[in-house]
Amino acid sequence: MMRGLPAFAADGILKLKQQLLDDPRDDKIDLGVGVYKDASGETPIMCAVKRAERMLWETETTKSYTSLPGTPEYLAAMRRLILGDEVPANHVAAIGTPGGTGAVRLALELVRMARPGARVFVTNPTWGNHLSILNYLGIETVPFRYFDTASHGVDTAGMISDLNQLRECDVVMLHGCCHNPSGADPDAEGWQALIDVMNAAGAMPMVDLAYQGFGDGLEADVAATRAICAACPEVLIAASCSKNFGIYRERTGIFMAVMHDAGAHTLTQGALTHLNRQSYSFPPDHGARLVTMVLGDGDLRAEWQAELDEMRGRMQSLRGALAQELRARTNDGRFDFIDAHRGMFSLIGASPAQVASLRDDHAVYIVGDGRINIAGMASCDVPAVATALLAVGL
Ligand code: LMR
Repeated sequence: MMRGLPAFAADGILKLKQQLLDDPRDDKIDLGVGVYKDASGETPIMCAVKRAERMLWETETTKSYTSLPGTPEYLAAMRRLILGDEVPANHVAAIGTPGGTGAVRLALELVRMARPGARVFVTNPTWGNHLSILNYLGIETVPFRYFDTASHGVDTAGMISDLNQLRECDVVMLHGCCHNPSGADPDAEGWQALIDVMNAAGAMPMVDLAYQGFGDGLEADVAATRAICAACPEVLIAASCSKNFGIYRERTGIFMAVMHDAGAHTLTQGALTHLNRQSYSFPPDHGARLVTMVLGDGDLRAEWQAELDEMRGRMQSLRGALAQELRARTNDGRFDFIDAHRGMFSLIGASPAQVASLRDDHAVYIVGDGRINIAGMASCDVPAVATALLAVGL
């Protein structure tokens, strides 16, 4: 029977991770998979998370099932972290999910269930796994102009012009902050124009929020998501705790459906809970419990926020250092966009041949679409990365 299976290509980002592990060179620099690394090249467990883990170990008395949608305390804490107190609790249906990817997958399952035939509009480019999941679910996908390769910023006019084709019942998948892979986010006018074009068509926004706290701060990074929720009648949000809590392998995420028709709440919550049951029954609990503890305890929360601020500060300063190094060497500002981008990623405009040369000739690993993960560098790597980028002709 298995001989009938189609052959699936390995995910490009994860394949690169394996190539790097297999590379014996000791001067290799990993700017590939989106994992934060500190100055010593480690992905540390945050101190607040470790403390919560110790407390949990001491106080947890059972590993019996929790609640099918996820524990109410986790769902409420995440709702407040993302939406603040602006959206009433009874306008939000929510489930815990295995990571942000689990949330994206279930959100798209819900789209297919609620709106058969809906098209999903995606930024061009977007995270490869968005496209893969959409393809797997058989959902028609429409890329819209987003990243302007000349300015390395958002092509707001192109984006809105493409979105003028939206029909009622279409979905627009947006990155709440720290766009992956480009690093370029819309400005406030761009977000407003997006809201207007979606509302004019009666299309539904879906926000993927995987990097809250990695861009300009915990609150600033959800300002656009909150504005969308205030202005649009229905919004889907898939959020991840992998990066901002550093709990990648615990698979901790949330899927929220925000609706201002309070009458739809019970129905939507039922559909979400059903999706959990059909997919894996109960969502993973360990990471969710740690997040709940950190967010619910003033002391742990302050420590976590300070650690998160430090991570964000490190990424900003690496951006500044790389842009500055390249400015000094080229005597021009053509790499200044690296400093203007936000989050872990920047698209640097490398061709596939340049990506291969960076890897093969300079041991600098970047994703095939030309994405670098700024957080994969140590500051002492900055000169070597600058040398490599210029050597391949960027
Ligand atoms: C990335 O984009 O590198 C991360 O989101 C990790 C992944 O699973 O692809």
